[in-house]
Amino acid sequence: MDVSGYLHAKGAATEAALEACFVPWTQAPSPLIEAMRHSLFAGGKRLRPALALGACEIICGDMTPALPAACAIEMIHTYSLIHDDLPAMDDDDLRRGKPTCHKVYGEATAILAGDALLTMAFDVAASTGRADVVAEIARAAGVEGMVGGQQFDLEAEGKTVALEDLRRIHRAKTGALICVALRCGAMLAHGTQVQLERLTRFGDHLGLAFQIADDLLDVGGDEEALGKPVGSDARNAKSTYPALVGLDRARALAEEAATAAVEALEDFGEEAGPFRALARFVVSRDR
Ligand code: IPE
Ligand code: IPE
Ligand code: MG
Ligand code: MG
Ligand code: MG
Repeated sequence: MDVSGYLHAKGAATEAALEACFVPWTQAPSPLIEAMRHSLFAGGKRLRPALALGACEIICGDMTPALPAACAIEMIHTYSLIHDDLPAMDDDDLRRGKPTCHKVYGEATAILAGDALLTMAFDVAASTGRADVVAEIARAAGVEGMVGGQQFDLEAEGKTVALEDLRRIHRAKTGALICVALRCGAMLAHGTQVQLERLTRFGDHLGLAFQIADDLLDVGGDEEALGKPVGSDARNAKSTYPALVGLDRARALAEEAATAAVEALEDFGEEAGPFRALARFVVSRDR
């Protein structure tokens, strides 16, 4: 399975749909729109959109019903990165291979660009006409999901937390958006409750594997390939898997989570092949 080809194809569809969301402002560029575009169109992996589109395709054979949800979740993810990089949070200067939003446009505009991406996401999500999808995205982005996880992440700085608590932080700050991408894709494909549950379990393990791999890359990754700084977590005394259990055990736990993700797909057939490969990619990636 060619994972990069798969991500490239799903990414191209996402890119075009995201561009279409900006058409109303093409004639009236402003620093705010420029700042939003600076971060959104900077060459992210588009993993979450690929999961939404892929889940929809696996179930109904067509990915297009999931495009609005894929775009909405990528907008929310990008806003989370803009705010995550701010001096008040992780204070990082490089993102997606470019200077961070606040480095180019200033902190105030970067905060507003994040706010605007978040609100725009719900406009786009509402275009599905599915209140259940909109509510799922809201919950995954908010107190019980990404934002809540980011708060726990801040509170865990400089502390030794229990492994169980760190797993909870990772599942919230990163797992929630990964999981909801899959769920929305399945919901927009009119999947069954069982399909939804299987994909949720896949996403739960995949999200954890993804963030452990992210922690590992922050220690031993290559800044050029990653497009973001290495050593950010140590500088901020973050609670991470490598810091808590060491590199070898962290690698083993990432592999374990990826294997559990693959196992969650056992009731799916050939059509889920790309997702099995994605689970392996998540823990072997260099970016
Ligand atoms: C980075 O996410 C932030 C985390 C949740 C670990 P990605 O590694 O998916 O970042 P992009 O979208 O490819 O830039
Ligand atoms: C943050 O995790 C995840 C988000 C919700 C943005 P990190 O702080 O480790 O993400 P990176 O390493 O800056 O991408
Ligand atoms: Mg962070
Ligand atoms: Mg960060
Ligand atoms: Mg990180």
